[in-house]
Amino acid sequence: MQTQMLIDGRWTDGPDSERIEVLDPATGDGIAEVAAGGPAEAAAACDAAAAAQPAWAEAAPRVRSEILRDCHRILMEHSDELADLITLEHGKPRADAVGEVAYAAEFFRWNAEETVRIHGTIGTAPGGDKRIITRHPPVGVVVMITPWNFPAAMITRKLAPALGAGNTVVVKPPREAPLTALRVGELLAEAGVPPGVVNLVPTTASGPWFDAAVDHRAVRMVSFTGSTEVGRVLLRRCADRVLKTVMELGGNAPFVVFADADLEAAVTGAMVAKMRHSAETCTAANRFFVEEPAHDEFVERLAAAMGSMKVGSGFDPDVTCGPMINPAAVTNIDRLVQGAINGGASAVTGGSAIGGPGFFYEPTVLGGVDPAAPITREEIFGPVAPVVSFTDTDAMIAAANDTEMGLIGYVYTEDLARGLNVSERIEAGMVGLNRGAVSDPAAPFGGMKQSGLGREGASEGIYEFCETQYIAADW
Ligand code: SIN
Repeated sequence: MQTQMLIDGRWTDGPDSERIEVLDPATGDGIAEVAAGGPAEAAAACDAAAAAQPAWAEAAPRVRSEILRDCHRILMEHSDELADLITLEHGKPRADAVGEVAYAAEFFRWNAEETVRIHGTIGTAPGGDKRIITRHPPVGVVVMITPWNFPAAMITRKLAPALGAGNTVVVKPPREAPLTALRVGELLAEAGVPPGVVNLVPTTASGPWFDAAVDHRAVRMVSFTGSTEVGRVLLRRCADRVLKTVMELGGNAPFVVFADADLEAAVTGAMVAKMRHSAETCTAANRFFVEEPAHDEFVERLAAAMGSMKVGSGFDPDVTCGPMINPAAVTNIDRLVQGAINGGASAVTGGSAIGGPGFFYEPTVLGGVDPAAPITREEIFGPVAPVVSFTDTDAMIAAANDTEMGLIGYVYTEDLARGLNVSERIEAGMVGLNRGAVSDPAAPFGGMKQSGLGREGASEGIYEFCETQYIAADW
């Protein structure tokens, strides 16, 4: 198990006193101690990235592309080992972890293909006085801050396009789940990523670490995935040096079911949208709006599906819902559930934390939820489905959009015209129409409103890590 940090191609311990204890959320037991860096290590990593960047950017796109292709291959070859690490430190069911490794690796394959297709343009100015040439050089050194809910995929979704475009990077992996990131770093080096191109520095002191990185002269960009609250703080700090940013922030996804929907498909989709990766996703359905004639049957079927989930260690092949990441997460979920119940909701199934060891919460369906309850306004990040019924489509859309967030929404109906119409009216960067999962490295992932800035994946994803240079030319 790799527990050191990676700076300039060398694995190293940080200051002796600084270690991160990584816990198994299924038991609460310590599983590893990981080296933690402070501002000095963050700055050293930025120095290394700055030194490595010119040569990496000058390598032919085909050379970078082939290395990215090898990164895909090596991650897939180590799928079992990486899935074990993900389940160990995050807790998600192992089948989800195996899926995450394939998803994570695919960002390298997709971006290997994009790397050789970063196009510029050439045109004649309307006045006919010059040619307008545009090109897309890399941004330079990029700082990445990645979350614990996808310990592999949220790193590769940023790394692969950044490297493809010719950038070098300094990553702060999540302190709750750093082991997968460190192993991914080792594998990328084996696949041919040169020293200094990827640097990984876990920390216990996020603020000073980030200050040192932002203040480093070579750093040009910050890419962050995490909560909107933290995103706002980072954005303010990035403003000091006018850094380019990509922000993948929180969600509060509405999941809309019309009475004409195929209810079996809607429940299957709801289970995916709510429960994939133990419900700890920013794409998770957070509020269910079900048209009145279908409400009772939908709630009954959803409660049956949620109530039959097996909760426990992700290594148990029968388990479909793993632990939450830490005790604070369980406490927060319970605060929202008890608040909803005190406000008049009823727990159709579940409704309580499960005693330890480990950090578990019962898969829960809440009926009769007050549309103004905090559970409909805050991101739950846990296995709880609050359901409200609706009769008026316009009022339902207004309620679905009555949030600062705009990451994703879901719509189920057999009427395609209505489905597309409602999808277009939902203020979100992504919509699943008769689908409970939308994530795909070939599609642009990202939010509107306070759910984020920029996109990851698709062709857009690699251009986020590029500048646009315009050359006004005469010849
Ligand atoms: C996330 O929850 O942050 C990402 C979910 C996904 O990529 O599917």
